[in-house]
Amino acid sequence: MQMQMQGPIQGSFASLEDDAILVAVEIKAKAIVAAGWEGEECLTVGRPGRWRAVHWWSSLIKEIYVSERTFSIIKPDAVKKGDAGAILAEIVKAGFKIVSIKKISISKAQAEGFYHVHSARPFFGELTEFMSSGPIVPMVLEKVNAIADLRKLMGATDPAKAEEGTIRKQFAASIGENAIHGSDAEDTAAFEIGYFFAGLELK
Ligand code: CMP
Repeated sequence: MQMQMQGPIQGSFASLEDDAILVAVEIKAKAIVAAGWEGEECLTVGRPGRWRAVHWWSSLIKEIYVSERTFSIIKPDAVKKGDAGAILAEIVKAGFKIVSIKKISISKAQAEGFYHVHSARPFFGELTEFMSSGPIVPMVLEKVNAIADLRKLMGATDPAKAEEGTIRKQFAASIGENAIHGSDAEDTAAFEIGYFFAGLELK
């Protein structure tokens, strides 16, 4: 039996011998993990809208992939150029679910708070000036392996080094104005989601 449970838990993918149970396990895994499930003796599974407790034999479970959430911003350069829609299309095509999204402008102080980990870097002033220079599109995205997969889809920070087909290769002009931001780890994703979105926006 192989299991992966990653990130802020909001769903799952399970590959089981009995496909009929799959949907139920996908939906209920959120509760299983949230309840601190540690073993493989019992999973609670159910059907959409009608939960039903079932004792599940661990030998039947082959894999559980729990999806995770990440945070992304379409940056001012891309919004200004009218590329936000095309970037969103790439994100959706890559299998991400958009949990929450909005278009806002932030102040320099708010950009400084968001990028506080970079405060000692020489580009901090330029970065926060740029991020507060026009509307941005922050969003919360969800899929299995969301954090790593979004980083891959975005491409290298410097668009000159980004692989063909990545968002930065297609839409970014420079390392400073690089079209999109994506969280680099679970703890930063949690901080960044909370910085821009309230709980009610994340249902
Ligand atoms: P992002 O993924 O948003 O995280 C931090 C940002 O700092 C990064 O994307 C770049 O846009 C920016 N950045 C990193 N290195 C430099 C640099 N050398 N000059 C200007 N901006 C940079």
